[in-house]
Amino acid sequence: MNRNILVIGSANTDMVITTKYFPRPGETVMGEQFLINPGGKGANQAVGAARLGGQVTFITKFGTDLFGEQGRAQLLREGIATDYVLSDPDQPSGVALITVDEHGENSIVVAPGANGTLSAADVTGADQPFAECELVLMQLEIPLPTVVAAALLATKLGKRIILNPAPAQALPDELLRALFLITPNESEAEILTGIAIIDADSLEAAAQALLAKGVKNVVITLGAEGAYLRTPAGAQHLPAVRTQPVDTTAAGDVFNGALAVALAEGQELLAAVAFANQAAAISVTRLGAQASAPYRHELRQPVT
Ligand code: ADP
Ligand code: NA
Repeated sequence: MNRNILVIGSANTDMVITTKYFPRPGETVMGEQFLINPGGKGANQAVGAARLGGQVTFITKFGTDLFGEQGRAQLLREGIATDYVLSDPDQPSGVALITVDEHGENSIVVAPGANGTLSAADVTGADQPFAECELVLMQLEIPLPTVVAAALLATKLGKRIILNPAPAQALPDELLRALFLITPNESEAEILTGIAIIDADSLEAAAQALLAKGVKNVVITLGAEGAYLRTPAGAQHLPAVRTQPVDTTAAGDVFNGALAVALAEGQELLAAVAFANQAAAISVTRLGAQASAPYRHELRQPVT
């Protein structure tokens, strides 16, 4: 089986409560719906890519609990190869507690569990998933040394790497230099560069600062404003597809999964970002993380 996208990252169980408004510290709020959903940025992006036609292999780690069993089963239902999914008998599977308010804003606390023990040796132990993919898609919900080791192996094998730097943290130069593309949102871009994005000039300055660190291309996602693509050749702001947001929980994850699919299929960056904007706009009109990821046929102008 030819697998074109290798996703390496977290898998969580999301416990979601919808509420009129968020509690302040010490406050209890009576919420509305309760949902248990598979989540984690790694799994969300793997599912996002698979639903859009990517042939996805996912490397992650669960505990040996019921959440881990359900998580693996869910990946298989989505057509994702789980040959390299690992188990840690000493850790619970990752869990995220999520509240979503009536404006579709979310607030999240994550207990990483087994995601936190996914080691460099776990990930780089077998070259095969790296050798057979077109590109590698990662996030930062697993240990940073694991991400760095995976990036160095992918680079050695001549594979492009997309890093969604979420949650944001300071990144070593050797990692940044290995990246084909980095995809922060505005607050992540600020943490990475120290530049607050308040207008077009600061947006361009933040993108330039990332290029200066050796990243080959930059996409800064701008929520309802779409995305800003910066390559060495030029910059372009691609506005979002206008829609009524209900739950933005996995917008960035769907965006990154879609980008990976379009790039693995040989699309140019500009077309890939337009494709990602379309996919992410659909996801914000639906509740949930993976549940909100669209299928290829739902996109108005599918990449051919
Ligand atoms: P994150 O979810 O990582 O914080 P963003 O909020 O920047 O990332 O959203 C990622 C992408 O999702 C955006 O670039 C855009 O394509 C899409 N998106 C987010 N919010 C909206 C919205 N309100 N309407 C349409 N598209 C949206
Ligand atoms: Na959603």
